[in-house]
Amino acid sequence: MENLEELQESLLNRVATAGDLEALESLRVQALGKKGEVTQRLKTLGSLTPDERKEAGQRLNRVKEVLTEALDARRADLEERALESRLVNEAVDVTLPARPAEVGRIHPISQTFEELVAIFGEMGFSVAEGPHIEEDYYNFTALNIHEAHPARQEMDTFYMRPAADGSRKVLRTHTSPVQIRTMLSEKPPIRIIVPGRTFRADHDATHSPMFHQVEGLVIDKKSHMGHLKGTLTAFCRAFFGVDDLPLRFRPSYFPFTEPSAEVDIGCSREGGELKIGPGKDWLEILGSGMVHPKVLANCGIDPNEYQGFAFGMGIERIAMLKYGFPDLRIFYETDLRWMKHYGFVPLEIPSMVRGM
Ligand code: DAH
Repeated sequence: MENLEELQESLLNRVATAGDLEALESLRVQALGKKGEVTQRLKTLGSLTPDERKEAGQRLNRVKEVLTEALDARRADLEERALESRLVNEAVDVTLPARPAEVGRIHPISQTFEELVAIFGEMGFSVAEGPHIEEDYYNFTALNIHEAHPARQEMDTFYMRPAADGSRKVLRTHTSPVQIRTMLSEKPPIRIIVPGRTFRADHDATHSPMFHQVEGLVIDKKSHMGHLKGTLTAFCRAFFGVDDLPLRFRPSYFPFTEPSAEVDIGCSREGGELKIGPGKDWLEILGSGMVHPKVLANCGIDPNEYQGFAFGMGIERIAMLKYGFPDLRIFYETDLRWMKHYGFVPLEIPSMVRGM
């Protein structure tokens, strides 16, 4: 039993240097387990004389006590350190903003909607809406497109099943019926845009059976063709980001406007590349005109007192021109790789101040 002191010291040393809870536990088993070094010694006590046994037993028990105390203290210490390191590693900074990492993208069509709203909003227009499934009357008749009017055939209308009274609703072929709905429900002055979905039975690289338009309508006592030109010029320059973008107003025909004009923007195609801005070429982008007196009258507005202008354009078309998409079908393919590349970062909301 001479080397009992040494044994105690060496065990205490190992306790002090045990690096983690696992090492400490295996040390405890090595010393105090069934086959442990201290346990083994206790087993040899039987071969001693009663006096020797008493003394050796006390000394061994003391070693056991000291060791157990040291093990407990070291365990508490290691546990605390383990907790501290977890607290540090798993800490959550509650002062960080609760905004998740951005993953989604804004579709170019949605972005274009936002741009339209930002530009026309700045000019004092508000946004109006109407149903996609529309009364034949609002989509056509009230807009001065009577039963036999060729525009009905040209529009490749989707008709709903006839109702009991024989009337048939349509998927609206343009956003113009919202002009009618607004004039029936609001008193002039009216100044609205109507961005929304429209439907026609047509499908190729530049047509989709579902597409989007934006309608504009201004009704008051004095708005004239000059205001129409000024409004659309300001819009096109802001939207395409070209300050000297030339516009050309070409006489045209729409049943719901008189006079009517189609609007082209300047472009050049030098070197096979389409560039929007002053140049030798023109691109047609929208239809417009002074609201037809019959349309005003259809909505209970006296055409001798009120007048105004309207316009309508395809959102896919202006988005394709602005962002250079050659084929509109890509807009509806829900291709995430395409969205990642061409989609817009959320919260980068377009505004007249920050730019489009
Ligand atoms: N509704 C027309 C279309 O879909 C576009 C249009 C032309 C709307 C002239 C208007 C307008 O308000 O004045 O082709």
